[in-house]
Amino acid sequence: MAEYQSTRGRCVVTGVAGFVGSHLAEALLAMGMHVVGVDNFFSGKPENMATFLSHPNFSFYELSITDPGILTKVQDGGQRLTHCFHLAAIVSVPYSLEHEDETFNINYSASMALLEEAHLLGLQRFVFAGSAAEYGAEARMPIREEYAHDGTLHLSPYGQTKYRVSRAVASSPLGVALRFFNIYGLRQDPSSPYSGVISRFVKLAKAGLPLTVHGSGSQSRDFIHISDCVSAYLAGAGLHQELKAATPGCYNIGTGKSTTVFELARTINSLANNASDITHTPLRPGDISHSLADTGAFAAATGWHADVRIEDGLRGLVVG
Ligand code: UD1
Repeated sequence: MAEYQSTRGRCVVTGVAGFVGSHLAEALLAMGMHVVGVDNFFSGKPENMATFLSHPNFSFYELSITDPGILTKVQDGGQRLTHCFHLAAIVSVPYSLEHEDETFNINYSASMALLEEAHLLGLQRFVFAGSAAEYGAEARMPIREEYAHDGTLHLSPYGQTKYRVSRAVASSPLGVALRFFNIYGLRQDPSSPYSGVISRFVKLAKAGLPLTVHGSGSQSRDFIHISDCVSAYLAGAGLHQELKAATPGCYNIGTGKSTTVFELARTINSLANNASDITHTPLRPGDISHSLADTGAFAAATGWHADVRIEDGLRGLVVG
């Protein structure tokens, strides 16, 4: 993990009980920041906060981001908030397809209200969790930020709402939108068929069960370790000790390296000494073939780059 600046400030993290939000809160607390966490446990879990729930600099509010005036509500005795990291969202693409209006309300309307409130309260930074899904089925690789535009054919309400908010955040003087590619790491939930492929494969391999690859496994992704995501959030907020603060805008966050799903399955099996064969199932409907980030813009803005090689990240998950 990178060295973080010991800075005093008061940060809001929405979605703090989620996989990513909980890692971000841990890092902010370790830096000496106060963290005000918000979650309604729609997909987050109380156990993700176990390491910091009783930290003296942490306070928690069980609230939905659709509650009006949420930042004002969580200002503990009127103390000034400095940064908002907005991660809370409907995060499941299939769920977003089945619940379009709810996705719009939560991922778009509530996010826009939060951004506006952050302005009114004079926060220094609003860092938004965007997604590679904002690019739809983009064929040009590596993907550059400008490839998402108003004509992009979004494949889901999830991708569409993330795109709209990213654009609004990026054009605000305090806004930084980070478009994360495929994040993996400890505490990622492997329980649903739509959970991240790495969390599913690691769970199966550790149990000695066959890994199920959809299609041939030649599809590829840009897998980024959670610790690199956390350092990107800190750089986005201007809180990273060794990196420049990002200027307002929209940035890809990935490694710039691609790994096929088949390579992933083989590596995980080998690390876990799993002798079970890899099985192939039909390709998932709507699956994109390739996704790879061009990370040049964020590197130029802040000096950030991903540190964790996929083999090391996977070893950490499988072997510990
Ligand atoms: C990811 C995001 C999604 C986002 C999209 C944007 C996750 C969990 N999902 O989807 O929110 O919209 O990027 O580009 O990060 N696979 C298998 N076997 C399995 C599970 C998956 O072969 O058991 C394959 C999938 O078919 C896919 C690849 O692994 O080709 C990656 O799947 P997944 O981890 O679900 O991520 P994305 O589909 O890229």
